[in-house]
Amino acid sequence: MPDVKKIRLDKLLSSTGSFSRSEAGKLCRASKVTVNGLTVKDPDTKVDPERDEVSVLGKILEYRRYTYIMMNKPDGVVSATEDGDLTVIDLLPEELRRIGLFPCGRLDKNTHGLVILTNHGDLAHFLLSPKHHVEKLYYAETKFPVSDADISLLESGIDIGGYISAPCKVVRAEEKKLYITLTEGKYHQIKLMLGGVHNQVTYLKRVSFAGIELDKELSESSWRYLTAKEVEILTQSFNLLKIK
Ligand code: URA
Repeated sequence: MPDVKKIRLDKLLSSTGSFSRSEAGKLCRASKVTVNGLTVKDPDTKVDPERDEVSVLGKILEYRRYTYIMMNKPDGVVSATEDGDLTVIDLLPEELRRIGLFPCGRLDKNTHGLVILTNHGDLAHFLLSPKHHVEKLYYAETKFPVSDADISLLESGIDIGGYISAPCKVVRAEEKKLYITLTEGKYHQIKLMLGGVHNQVTYLKRVSFAGIELDKELSESSWRYLTAKEVEILTQSFNLLKIK
């Protein structure tokens, strides 16, 4: 039976978010990587991330148990793990479709932008719980101009089908372009809120989630691992809660 816990060395290196897969390969071939003290030049070498001590450029690699990914979701893709239609999971390479990743919160099928995918279930629960008021920033384009009175209504809370939305921050970039920061995530929330001021969303994109900004270099449908710094930002309030 194959040892399922072992993974390729270049994959382990890139899972830290500090190197791309090709950078990891180059580091190996340049004799910059050791496994249990021995130089390993072949990036295909299988290692046990829990047991083997891997060093890069003399620094011991801190293996992360969980995977954290950012994706720039395009129109027409569903932010779910399974669906009749194409999902965000289908946009990942084969090896990442088997490790229990799921999107942290749903975007509508025609909403673009930032989706965080992880297999850290407790963290995702924490981030999605309405109790924790995690900030999500959206960029919206509308059919009609948005007035100052509309902005006041949107900011103070508006009826979205029997529920009054929580206070939020709205910044108008142009007369039909807005940035909206929500701390909750009701179904179709921004579309319903704009509908509440007799307007209509024509384009919607999430640009940040829990302090993580969508990487401007990431084209639509692309993904990358979160960097160590981003993982720290994403997990810091969750980790603080565990310490308390
Ligand atoms: N609000 C919406 O209306 N749709 C989304 O996808 C996200 C927020």
